[in-house]
Amino acid sequence: MSESANHIHPEFSRQLAREDKEKLLGQKGLVVWMYGMSGSGKSTIANAAEKTLHEQGCMTTILDGDNLRTGLNEALGFSDDDRRENIRRVSQVAKLFAHQGILTLVSVITPRQELRDLARDIIGDDYYEVFVKASYDLCEKRDVKGLYAKAASGEIKNFTGKDSSFEEPHNPDLVIDTEGQEIAESVGKLLEAIKQKISNI
Ligand code: ADX
Repeated sequence: MSESANHIHPEFSRQLAREDKEKLLGQKGLVVWMYGMSGSGKSTIANAAEKTLHEQGCMTTILDGDNLRTGLNEALGFSDDDRRENIRRVSQVAKLFAHQGILTLVSVITPRQELRDLARDIIGDDYYEVFVKASYDLCEKRDVKGLYAKAASGEIKNFTGKDSSFEEPHNPDLVIDTEGQEIAESVGKLLEAIKQKISNI
């Protein structure tokens, strides 16, 4: 913690409570942390799930790694330290949204277990971890953004799954294996799991 933190006086207790906001919205805040390799299907599933949830009257937001890296995180790269700072910031922002009662879908690679643990530590009980699984070979075949070809030619360094590690998770709350599964099926599984989780809160 920085020295200046000693002179900061947070004002949480006098602000409107989370429960007041949840009551207004008629829902509970939650962070659905979707992670996996580039091209595994995170954003596709998150975008489709958000549309359905919206139609059902749920207030949602998506925090997408690529999008955030054009704003809040634009100065961060793909070294281990920068990825850690990226995840710390996204976690803090996700927590803020969840505390407003918003169902927050996060879509970031989060390549190492240490990073998922950090997100879980920051977000606490609102954290619901979803591993969007697909092999490097399949993601390379899909290559939606053309990044796998660039990584193969050496144009991109520190590429996740190639010269920067992707660790298989220990204990995700849900695994969505997009290999040999239609998008609609993956989205259905996610929505079902979210409903279950919310009904248990
Ligand atoms: S994370 O590792 O810090 O969680 P994040 O999800 O924010 O990554 O950003 C990943 C996105 O950045 C990918 O979807 C891809 O479009 C782009 N990208 C650019 N360079 C790299 C790289 N070296 N490794 C992975 N993704 C990269």
